[in-house]
Amino acid sequence: MDIEEVVSDYVSLKRKGQNLWACCPFHDEKTPSFSVAPHKGIYKCFGCGKAGDSISFVQEHDGLSYMEAIRWLANKYGIEVEEAERTDEQIEQQNERDSLYIIMGFARDYFQRLLQENEQGRSIGMSYFKERGFTEKTIEKFELGYSLDQWDALTKEAINKAYSEDLLEKAGLLVRKEGGKKYDRFRGRVIFPIHNVSGKVVAFGARTLKKDDKPKYLNSPETEVYHKSKVLYGLYQARQAIRQQDNCYLVEGYTDVISLHQSDIENVVASSGTSLTADQVKLISRFSQNITVLFDGDTAGVKASLRGIDMILQEGMNVRVVMFPAGEDPDSYSRKIGTSAFQQYLRDHLQDFITFKLNLFAEDASRDPLKKAESIKEVISSIAVIPDPVKRAVYLKESSKLLEMDESVLLAELNKLLIERKQKQTKPRQHREETDTTQAAVALERDAEPFDQRGIIAIQERESIRLLLNYGHNELEDNYKLYQYLLEELSEVEFTDPLYKEIFEIFKKEHDNGNTIDSQYFIHHGSGEVKQAVIDLTSVRREVSPIWTDKYQIHVPHEQDTLDHTVYQNITRLKRNIIQKLIDENMENLKNVTDPVEMDRLFDIQKRLKASEMELSKILGIVISR
Ligand code: UTP
Ligand code: MN
Repeated sequence: MDIEEVVSDYVSLKRKGQNLWACCPFHDEKTPSFSVAPHKGIYKCFGCGKAGDSISFVQEHDGLSYMEAIRWLANKYGIEVEEAERTDEQIEQQNERDSLYIIMGFARDYFQRLLQENEQGRSIGMSYFKERGFTEKTIEKFELGYSLDQWDALTKEAINKAYSEDLLEKAGLLVRKEGGKKYDRFRGRVIFPIHNVSGKVVAFGARTLKKDDKPKYLNSPETEVYHKSKVLYGLYQARQAIRQQDNCYLVEGYTDVISLHQSDIENVVASSGTSLTADQVKLISRFSQNITVLFDGDTAGVKASLRGIDMILQEGMNVRVVMFPAGEDPDSYSRKIGTSAFQQYLRDHLQDFITFKLNLFAEDASRDPLKKAESIKEVISSIAVIPDPVKRAVYLKESSKLLEMDESVLLAELNKLLIERKQKQTKPRQHREETDTTQAAVALERDAEPFDQRGIIAIQERESIRLLLNYGHNELEDNYKLYQYLLEELSEVEFTDPLYKEIFEIFKKEHDNGNTIDSQYFIHHGSGEVKQAVIDLTSVRREVSPIWTDKYQIHVPHEQDTLDHTVYQNITRLKRNIIQKLIDENMENLKNVTDPVEMDRLFDIQKRLKASEMELSKILGIVISR
């Protein structure tokens, strides 16, 4: 798949020399450092370091899995993908989904055309949007439309175009009553298409134009392609901005999303009136770990939606909150005070969730000590759902400051909740609490024979430097040299051996200055010790005598032939050794810890280290057995 074609759908590329350039879609920048190399089929951002091919671009940009990205590209560029043995039923389902996408796209086009060209559409629908202050550009961007005030306008048009009534009904566009009566679902309303992350229309929200007409918004029913708990209004239009700003504003309504766009705030999505679901939060987390909830200004409504905040915390994400004055929603308020004042308001009224919760209960609490206890409980219960113990500790400190209460009192309350929760979680497993298994693992670890990790790490460091000095300028792949690989892989590794550390750092420094050196440089410029080490490392190893290979006709591979394998294995071993050292150190800390929060944190670290060790071992296992 042509990388240029794929990427240019998302950003506008400009040619400069061999490559194409644009402002990076993955981070916020003003001057282009994102480049596409068409002949190599890759992209790379020199600002944030993101790089890859067409598939990884789509994956990254739209938050898709590898297979989803492939399917999406295949579909878009009309390429057949062979999927692993699908049952007839699965094929049938895929076909039905495809037909639904097609008819929803057709309906979107139809509603759009009516709004733009039809007399009723223009005089009623378009003037409504104009009255609300929506610009042409906005109307276009959100693909807004209008449905005629007739019983069967859409159905007639669809049948004309050879779509079946069954499909119309499955798509939720046609309602069939038991007595055989049937009619268009959306009539005489303005239309807000709802897109999935890849931009396909999966549903419609339709607003009435009459006062007191119920419901105000009529929405598509659940269908094969629309599961309302898994869709967020505006995400398709917002995804790039969410990643770039590393924050997502969450609002309630369609018009809030649209008005924020008009105030130049594009990183915004709506849960569309329903309460936020875990799936929706996960969807946002593909693009950023930060959510800012914008609350309409009425306290009763806010208290009712506190569950949403806990939901976000529970998914491990960070929540902040902005409250609006009573009676205002983001849509009305942004129009009332204008773009720059609105943006300023968001900055000035940003609160972390603790302050927000405390303020929410503050008024009651100041009058009534019992109420104060309640507000403390509220805050602690939110902290308790946060999965990361480090974050919990930070928030606890913060709360103790804000509440002017001793941290230990709050900690006791928190631990009570945590223990309750753990017991609930582990009940079905009986007799086996989560901590027990971890402790067993720790005990096992203690008995393992101690050995010197430092020495082993130094051996791998030596090997990395040896490869760098001898083969740094060899190509691992087209235009990709071994030293590039080592620089990337070792960028975050702190060498333990001072000599190898020095050599690596000189190499890196020279490279950063545009001067890629080799062993000769060290031999001429290095200190005595460095020079000696480099000579030692670059001296030719004893090779197998050519007489042998000739005589016995055996192929003895040169080291150069398998460099990629050798260097990959070296790096993986080095990383594994480093991890093992960290595991040992963490174990030592675990032996001495008494504070339960700290203990929790160390267990967590141990678990993660163990997982990485396992992963690296697996890689080495595969490499070795090859
Ligand atoms: P609101 O009643 O706050 O509407 O519902 P709004 O977004 O401010 O819309 P305007 O400004 O009156 O036009 C918030 C959201 O709840 C959903 C819609 O997604 C709406 O945007 N909703 C509301 C419905 O689905 N059905 C309804 O009848 C009402
Ligand atoms: Mn509104």
